[in-house]
Amino acid sequence: RRRVAWATRCSVAGSVAAASPILKNLHLKCATPLPVLRHIADAMAADMRAGLAADGASDLKMILSYVDSLPTGNEKGLFYALDLGGTNFRVLRVQLGGKDNRVVDTEFEQVSIPQELMHGSTEELFDFIASGFARFVAKEGEKFRLPQGRKREIGFTFSFPVKQTSIDSGILIKWTKGFAVSGTAGKDVVACLNEALKRQGMDMRVSALVNDAVGTLAGARYWDDDVMVAVILGTGTNACYIEHMDAIPKLQDLTTGSGKTIINTEWGAFSTGLPLTEFDKDMDKESINPGEQIFEKTISGMYLGEIVRRVLLKMAEVSALFGDYVPDKLSVPFVLRTPDLCAMHQDDSEDLEAVDLILNDTVGVTRSSPDARKIVAEVCDTIVKRGGRLAGAGIVGILQKMEQDSKGLIFGKRTVVAMDGGLYEHYPQYRKYLKEAVTELLGSEASKNVIIEHTKDGSGIGAALLAAINSKYSTEV
Ligand code: GLC
Repeated sequence: RRRVAWATRCSVAGSVAAASPILKNLHLKCATPLPVLRHIADAMAADMRAGLAADGASDLKMILSYVDSLPTGNEKGLFYALDLGGTNFRVLRVQLGGKDNRVVDTEFEQVSIPQELMHGSTEELFDFIASGFARFVAKEGEKFRLPQGRKREIGFTFSFPVKQTSIDSGILIKWTKGFAVSGTAGKDVVACLNEALKRQGMDMRVSALVNDAVGTLAGARYWDDDVMVAVILGTGTNACYIEHMDAIPKLQDLTTGSGKTIINTEWGAFSTGLPLTEFDKDMDKESINPGEQIFEKTISGMYLGEIVRRVLLKMAEVSALFGDYVPDKLSVPFVLRTPDLCAMHQDDSEDLEAVDLILNDTVGVTRSSPDARKIVAEVCDTIVKRGGRLAGAGIVGILQKMEQDSKGLIFGKRTVVAMDGGLYEHYPQYRKYLKEAVTELLGSEASKNVIIEHTKDGSGIGAALLAAINSKYSTEV
């Protein structure tokens, strides 16, 4: 515990009133009235076009996924998915039964990724994935033995910016979301996985390499033909959508059977016109990827708690929000996590007792006054509201771009945006703010046709479906 400066203590006499100018300024800087949202949606659409025109011309990479046929429901057989992308690693097995039976059987296992692996070597990380998979397969019974000569096929969901070179290969451009594994950038991540699988003595085939947003779109499309966009709001954030090949000037030489493809926007890197505060800027400067992923740092789960922590630290230091002392833990980066904000946000009791408990548990505030707790709750709300509303504006930007190109085929009919990720799934206020922004921007008429829908575990099933579509074998697909 550090003592607050004497002058501060005297001037505010431990009252929380002094925190209110900081709060007021925060409100002002984080405000997202309709004109700001409109500007963000327009900028998103313009940056998408620039990214489709030429590589490097926009913050948005607009990456070709090489997914040009989507699941139809006819897919059949046994497929696996491996999913690496946020705080957890997952293995999934799916038995697909075709149009009438769909998903006959599914089983999955999830483990959290040890912190040290996020900063270790490429081999260590991929060995961890391969051994997790080997353990999963070892537990399988006879029922899942494949016919002689047939390898198990995997859809590999790898949720980082990858320059795809085909449906089953791609080069890591850079790590995001706190990963800083040495030696992977510039390498084909499927080759890395294959080598690790070999080290485990496993004979497998990676049939599809997919981003989690792309997997979610494929997974949701399996159930609903109107899905056109998928958005991830979890540790990180991203969006992808179905694009016409002839709307991609930078890929003029490429054609696909369907004339369409999924584009992975990598919208986490968007930055145009965002309402940012000193707290965002400091967090960015001190991050392992300064100047990058600014949209992600403003709206996604990895960062919301950290922004709030920075605001509370300033309030504690400058205006004695928690009394005479600044709790030591409040200075530790990332101690306050988004699930903690969410838990505080659910407290609707008069004296915000739950807020008090959580402040105590997470940042070591021994006792907070009810007024201080109200300020904390307002800070959480301000940061979460800005995040949710900006995410909503981003979605509208994508829909707007698609509508401009297709004239009525988006807003004039039912269009589904498939959502996944822990932040969206578990944070009701965030969801509410996102949806409100979409409705404000689209107006009540157009927004009736836009369905924003949660697809749970869509990216895992989606990756397995894409493995099925790209299966090498006889295929009953
Ligand atoms: C990060 C990654 C992106 C991924 C997103 C959501 O932004 O760069 O590839 O889709 O997080 O997991």
